[in-house]
Amino acid sequence: MAEEAKETMNQNTFYSDAKEYWKKIPATVDGMLGGYGSISSNDIIGSQKFLKFFLHAPWAQRMQNRKALDCGAGIGRVSKHLLLPIFQSVDLLEQEKSFLDEAKTYLGDTADRVGKYIHKGLQDFTPSSAEYDLIWCQWVLGHLSDDHLVSFLKRCKEGLMDGGLICIKENIAKDGVIFDDQDSSFTRSYNEMQKIFKLADVTVVKEYTQRNFPLELYTVKMIALR
Ligand SMILES: C[S@@+](CC[C@H](N)C(=O)[O-])C[C@H]1O[C@@H](n2cnc3c(N)ncnc32)[C@H](O)[C@@H]1O
Repeated sequence: MAEEAKETMNQNTFYSDAKEYWKKIPATVDGMLGGYGSISSNDIIGSQKFLKFFLHAPWAQRMQNRKALDCGAGIGRVSKHLLLPIFQSVDLLEQEKSFLDEAKTYLGDTADRVGKYIHKGLQDFTPSSAEYDLIWCQWVLGHLSDDHLVSFLKRCKEGLMDGGLICIKENIAKDGVIFDDQDSSFTRSYNEMQKIFKLADVTVVKEYTQRNFPLELYTVKMIALR
């Protein structure tokens, strides 16, 4: 990790500061998106295009649609609009209990196909072996330290069924690593992400840059790994 970012974060309170931050955020789409609720539909359209590629790809790359995991699920925005319309069953993994409680209402009828609401931090979660076709991580991996992110990706790789994928959708910094002391998270450059993928022994299958987001936002990339 870039030295400057390491110096500005407090290792002892890195996770507790993030918890305190999210506890105060309203359980709404706008809350999940830092006040940018209006980008939700473009976000989902971009993600659908990305996933469709794997659902229709030739066998060597094809993913099946039995079971997905939504990591850092919040109130279930991604589950509701992206994952549940595609997958037979979806588990939600989220550290903030009030968001998971709201998800049960927000998901409406589609909540019937939620398998588990898992109230845990990603750093403390291990999927069962070969449990998921897709593990989707959106706007949450910046809340993990480098070491925890590497081991989380390793555990996720073990948690994939044949043909399964880990998809990450995250803000990308131009250079190095930027620490945000408001929500206690890192924004990593693509180069920093690649170092982490190497350590986690995961391979980039495909990547795509999200289009049609406001210019003032970070570049957002979708990256499929296995
Ligand atoms: C920016 S929101 C994104 C929510 C959702 N992925 C979406 O795109 O609508 C980040 C979410 O990650 C959760 N989160 C933060 N740190 C986490 C951690 N260590 N483990 C699990 N969830 C975490 C927050 O509580 C919040 O719900």
